[in-house]
Amino acid sequence: MLNKTIEQLEQEFQAKIDAEIKIEPKDWMPDAYRKTLVRQISQHAHSEVVGMLPEGNWISRAPSLRRKAVLLAKVQDEAGHGLYLYSAVETLGTSRDQTIEDLLSGKAKYSSIFNYPALTWADMGAIGWLVDGAAIMNQVALCRASYGPYARAMVRICKEESFHQRQGYEIICTLMKGTDAQRQMAQDAVNRFWWPALMMFGPSDTDSPNSAQSMKWKIKRFSNDDLRQKFVNATVPQAHLIGLTLPDKDLKFNEATGNWEFGEMPWDEFFNVVKGNGPCNKKRLRDRNTAHDNGAWVREAALAHAEKRAERQRKAS
Ligand SMILES: [Fe+2]
Ligand SMILES: [Fe+2]
Repeated sequence: MLNKTIEQLEQEFQAKIDAEIKIEPKDWMPDAYRKTLVRQISQHAHSEVVGMLPEGNWISRAPSLRRKAVLLAKVQDEAGHGLYLYSAVETLGTSRDQTIEDLLSGKAKYSSIFNYPALTWADMGAIGWLVDGAAIMNQVALCRASYGPYARAMVRICKEESFHQRQGYEIICTLMKGTDAQRQMAQDAVNRFWWPALMMFGPSDTDSPNSAQSMKWKIKRFSNDDLRQKFVNATVPQAHLIGLTLPDKDLKFNEATGNWEFGEMPWDEFFNVVKGNGPCNKKRLRDRNTAHDNGAWVREAALAHAEKRAERQRKAS
């Protein structure tokens, strides 16, 4: 290995990827590959954890014991997803403390969708159905990502995500069978979350400079626009089936391509939210910092416990 040039190492690395051999933590990898993964997986981990906030806010107001138990389980799943992904980031040589510090200081990004408020109970339905639904489209493809620890984390995550999507759709279905006010509440939630969910797939391929490299490295398997179209095709019939309309006057089915064509996305609004000017950006960061501070005693207690145990083991041996 010592005698190999960077070019040779890069060639071997790409050959492994082309042959669908997973890259593991101790394998040689180009710096840019490592950096791309650290950025992508940590953003993903942060999204799981910040995503708990809008839904956590509704646990105490869920309309029945069953709904409360389901929502609680869902929010706990998201915490678990965050943990799998923070562990995957650590395998790339970045400490967990650093990754979390980047979130708390506002340096790191997370999915902009969580900077929108959850205003009504129907939002729990719209978030599960549309937001987790959009996340699944992305995440199923990531189960085959070239980096082993990321791909394996995604396999576990995807199993839980399909439950999240279904519990959301079930909430919306139940509301659509209810009173006029309930149907209106469901429609309003869908109207607010439709475009932000579509924008979760990121900018159009023509405006996404890193896409081609990520595809070559097989971190990414499908383009943003392809995944977005798959999501729209899967979701529009689900909306129509239960009598919902979608807030897009240009939405129409193209018989020739089999695609639901949709209108122009409100990108100005999206980039404004990305820049930190969304309705809840500041609140989410503040709440996350408060939760972290309030959890300090748990981390300290866990450390003290681990030290005591190590001490006992030292004495026993
Ligand atoms: Fe998740
Ligand atoms: Fe989820």
